[in-house]
Amino acid sequence: MKKSLLLIAFIFAFTSCKDSNSNIKKTVKRNGLITQKAMVVSARAEASKIGSDILKKGGNAFDAMMGTELALAVTYPYAGNLGGGGFMVYRLANGEIGSLDYREKAPLAATKNMYLDADGNVIENKSTIGAYAVGVPGTIAGVFAAHKKFGKLPVKDILQPVIDLANNGFVITEKQQARINDKDSIFKAVNGKEILFSNKTKAGETLKNIALAETLERIMNNGKDEFYKGETAQKLVNFIQDKGGIITMEDLALYEAKWRDPVTFNYKDLRVISMAPPSSGGICLAQIMKMIEHFDLKSYGHNSLKTTQVIVEAERRAYADRSHFLGDPDFVEMPLKTLLSDVYLHERMNSFSFEKATPSDSISHGNISGYESSETTHYSIVDQFGNAISVTTTLNGAYGSKLFVDELGFFLNNEMDDFSSKPGVPNVYGLVGTEANSIAPQKRMLSSMTPTIIEKDGELYMVVGTPGGSTIITSVLQTILNVEEFGMTMQEAVDAPRFHHQWLPDEIRVEATTFSEKLKKQLATKGYFINENATPITAKVDAILVLPNGKLEGGADHRGDDTAVGF
Ligand code: DON
Repeated sequence: MKKSLLLIAFIFAFTSCKDSNSNIKKTVKRNGLITQKAMVVSARAEASKIGSDILKKGGNAFDAMMGTELALAVTYPYAGNLGGGGFMVYRLANGEIGSLDYREKAPLAATKNMYLDADGNVIENKSTIGAYAVGVPGTIAGVFAAHKKFGKLPVKDILQPVIDLANNGFVITEKQQARINDKDSIFKAVNGKEILFSNKTKAGETLKNIALAETLERIMNNGKDEFYKGETAQKLVNFIQDKGGIITMEDLALYEAKWRDPVTFNYKDLRVISMAPPSSGGICLAQIMKMIEHFDLKSYGHNSLKTTQVIVEAERRAYADRSHFLGDPDFVEMPLKTLLSDVYLHERMNSFSFEKATPSDSISHGNISGYESSETTHYSIVDQFGNAISVTTTLNGAYGSKLFVDELGFFLNNEMDDFSSKPGVPNVYGLVGTEANSIAPQKRMLSSMTPTIIEKDGELYMVVGTPGGSTIITSVLQTILNVEEFGMTMQEAVDAPRFHHQWLPDEIRVEATTFSEKLKKQLATKGYFINENATPITAKVDAILVLPNGKLEGGADHRGDDTAVGF
C-alpha cells in the first residue's frame, strides 16, 4: 500500500512538475474539441451549432458567418447584435486574404463637440447611455456583404434556423441571468419601462424573442435594404428619434460595409493577418509583436518576470502610438508604414531596460480614470473547404446603450463612446485619443477589435480573436504567444491567465490568478504598478488551431459559456 502511494506521488511529481523555463505546470495537455474538418467557436452553443449545421449542409464559412452572427443576436444580446457592428478577416482555401469593415458610423448630424457642455467638459453618460450614444449600425450590411461576395447557400436556408431559434426560444444560462439581473435597473431607467430582459429572467428558463424573429423574417424576405431603407429602418429611426437620438433615414440609407486590405506582418515563422484601421487591432498587434520578436520569451517562461516586462513595455509604446495616430482611414492620414517599420520599432524599444519600468509619462502624457467592464463577442470559423474567417462584433458596452427597440427585438450600440469626445479625456476603457479619432459626420470610431488569422509555412494555422475593449489586442497577443512560444494547446492558450498594459493608466491590469506574490513584488520593485481590480476577467478568446495532422482544435474560453461545435 505504502509502495503504491509512493509510486503515485512519484508519478504526480513528474507529470505536474514545472518546466524549468515555464510557470505553466506541465500536466497532461488539455485539448479543446478536436474535429476532422470544420468548426465554429462562439460565445453560445446554439450559435456555434447553427453555424456548424450550415457548414454540414454544404454552406461555407461566409454562410456560417451570417447564421452565427445573427444567432448570437438572439441568444447573446449582451454583445451579439443587429444594432451594432464589427470586423471580419478572412483567408480563403487558396490563400487569398481580405477583410470586411462593418463598423458603425457617426450620424450625419454628429459634431465634434456633441458630448461636451458649454464649458467644454465631457457630459457624463452622454456618449454611453441612451439614443444619443448610438452609431449607425453596420451588422446587417456586413453579413449581407460577406454573403453576397462569397456565400453559397440561399439566405433563406441560413436565416430560417435563426428565426426558429428566436421563435422557439433559448435557454438562459447562469452567467446570462447574472448579467441581465445586474443591468435590470439601468434597463428600466433608460427604456422607461421593463424590457424583455429583466430580473424576472431566470437561469434554466426558455426565453423567446418574437419581435426579433419578425424582424429577421422581414430581412430574410427583403434583404439588407429592409434594415436600411424598409419598414424596419423606419421603425428604427422613429424609435431612436423618439428617444432623443439623431439618426435619420438618410444615415441608414448611406451606410455601407467596406472591404479593406488587412494588416499583414511576420513574427518569426508565422504570417499574421489582422484588421486594419478603423480598428487599431492589427497595427497595435503588429507593433507589439515586432517589438518583442527579438527577445527569447521561450527561455524566460510564460508570465515570468522578464516576459512580463518585455510584453508590458512593448504594449505601453504601441498604445501610446494608437492614441495619437490612429483613426478612420477615410478621414485621417496615418503614418502606417513608419509605425510598422523595423527601424522605428527598434528605436521605440531603445529606452527599454530590464532594470526598471519606463514610466508612461516619459513616453507621452495624460491622466486616466477607471473602466467599466463590458462586452463584445468574437467567433472563429474554419469550413470543410479550408476557408477561415475571424469575426469580432459588438454593441460596445454590455447591451450597448441599454436602449432596447422592443418592437424590433434588439439592443442599440453605444459605439459613439469609442470616439475621443475630447482630446486626453479617457473613454470607458480608459483610452485617450486625439484629433485622429475625433467625431465627424459619417466617420467610423477607432476600435481595438482584432480578428486575426495566422499562417505557418504558407498554410492556415490559427484563427483567433476576442471581446475585451482595450484588452482585446493584448489578449490576442498572449493567446498566440501561449501556443507559439510556450507550447500550449489551443484550449490551454485561451484559458491561461492574462495581463494587460495600455500606456495610460500606467499600470498592469491582471486577472487575479495571473501573477504570484513573488512576481508582483519583483515587478513592484522595478517600478510597475499592478491593478488586480480593474475587471474580474480579461477578455474571452474563441480560437481554432490547425493541428499537425490537419485536424482542428477549438479553444472556447472557459470564462464564458463559449462552445466549439464542428465535425
Ligand atoms: O471597438 C472596440 O474596441 C470596443 N467597442 C470593443 C468593446 C468590447 O470589446 C467590450 N468588451 N468587453
